[in-house]
Amino acid sequence: MTTEIKKIGVLTSGGDAPGMNAAVRAVVRACIYYDIEVFGIYKGYDGLIKGNMEQLYVRSVSNILSRGGTFLLSARSKEFRTKEGRKQAYEHFKANGLDALVVIGGDGSFTGADIFSQEFNVPVIGIPGTIDNDLSGTDFTIGFDTACNTAREAIDKIRDTASSHERLFFVEVMGRDAGFIALNSAIGGGAVAMIVPEHNWSIEALINRLRKGAANQKASNVVIVAEGCHLGSSYEIATKVKEQLDYFDIRVTVLGHLQRGGTPTTLDRVLASRMGVAAVEGLRNGQSNVMVGIINNRIAYTPIGEAIKTIKRLDDEEFRIAKILSI
Ligand code: F6P
Repeated sequence: MTTEIKKIGVLTSGGDAPGMNAAVRAVVRACIYYDIEVFGIYKGYDGLIKGNMEQLYVRSVSNILSRGGTFLLSARSKEFRTKEGRKQAYEHFKANGLDALVVIGGDGSFTGADIFSQEFNVPVIGIPGTIDNDLSGTDFTIGFDTACNTAREAIDKIRDTASSHERLFFVEVMGRDAGFIALNSAIGGGAVAMIVPEHNWSIEALINRLRKGAANQKASNVVIVAEGCHLGSSYEIATKVKEQLDYFDIRVTVLGHLQRGGTPTTLDRVLASRMGVAAVEGLRNGQSNVMVGIINNRIAYTPIGEAIKTIKRLDDEEFRIAKILSI
């Protein structure tokens, strides 16, 4: 069944992620393909609250496929968390004649989308755009692959200097409360260990691993620390390790926001393109209050509430592999 959707608004919200532009482009071009008007809303929900939006055309999204960040700008809107803010947003939504909304963002943005959709009975589709990969209902989120490649490239460079000086490096990666970037970078970067929020590793276990490596003539060591891990910051962990293993020459690198920038990888561009088209087609087919995802390489629609509430688990198999290879 095809629902009559004539005008769609699209926004990017929360922390930006490489590939968001590719997703906006796909939404815009799919809309035009299906003869739907499309409006770009600037600065996330703040733009909806203020009515800061304009119509986008096929050429409005030329040459943005390869650009990191989001040309629509992004924000974490405090006002949209209030009923009054959402009411103002709905007034602009109606005044501009919008029939549906596409939200590209992470779990915080989807919490807002879920409430807004139910409060005003508005069709909303979410596209998962976050480097953290912490949303259920999709194998990967847009930006995750690029962020992992950026982190891995940095780790490779750190490895060069770590080997030259026989040093132990702690490299802190992003991911908020999730360890997906850490796990992926640990395998890709050949780390001796990783500390992630999902696993209850102790300083003692880490020290044992490092001792074993030293006994085994391991010349350079890179430990990946997820920013949200339970043992504290990478600096605190480094200090605790130094107290017990003072023969290690230790350095710490926090990769920070560089993981959010850069040109999206092919994988992220393809993911964003597929999801953008699927969002528009989903709305045309009557989908509402769902997140579009890709599971086992097939498009899947999951209720937004479920996508944000179900905790996505780290892959046990990948975790096991990281451990086997770190000796
Ligand atoms: O959610 C994406 C993310 O980059 C997290 O990995 C990180 O914890 C957070 O955003 C940083 O937020 P901000 O850009 O507000 O400092």
